[in-house]
Amino acid sequence: QSTTEIDISKIEPGQAVKSSFRKQPLFVRNLTPAEIAEANKVPVNSLRDPQTLAERTKPGKENWLITLGVCTHLGCVPLGAGEGENKGPFGGYFCPCHGSAYDTAARIRQGPAPRNLEVPPYNFNSDTVVTVG
Ligand code: FES
Repeated sequence: QSTTEIDISKIEPGQAVKSSFRKQPLFVRNLTPAEIAEANKVPVNSLRDPQTLAERTKPGKENWLITLGVCTHLGCVPLGAGEGENKGPFGGYFCPCHGSAYDTAARIRQGPAPRNLEVPPYNFNSDTVVTVG
């Protein structure tokens, strides 16, 4: 199956869950207002892969950050989606393989990864269901 439907109704603010999309890990994260503010205060020009949070989310749904859970360095699965996992020094995701750290918009901030975690194509079917792909 080429698309994945995800029920997001049970994902609390501050929580990130791991799902899968086309056999790859997929992270779905409900950002808190503080995490959104944290992402928005970073000067975009200072980023290795310059993108705003708004460019990585849907209008009016900036709290829903949906990315592949695949480090853009060599493809390990970063930590940070799941209970008690290490979100790393920038509060998003942390790749334990070689230390790439992603921020609350899943943008690369430190370490060898060249690009932000990829945002796959997706759409909201409703307020509680997302179709990825
Ligand atoms: Fe993630 Fe190397 S694969 S830092």
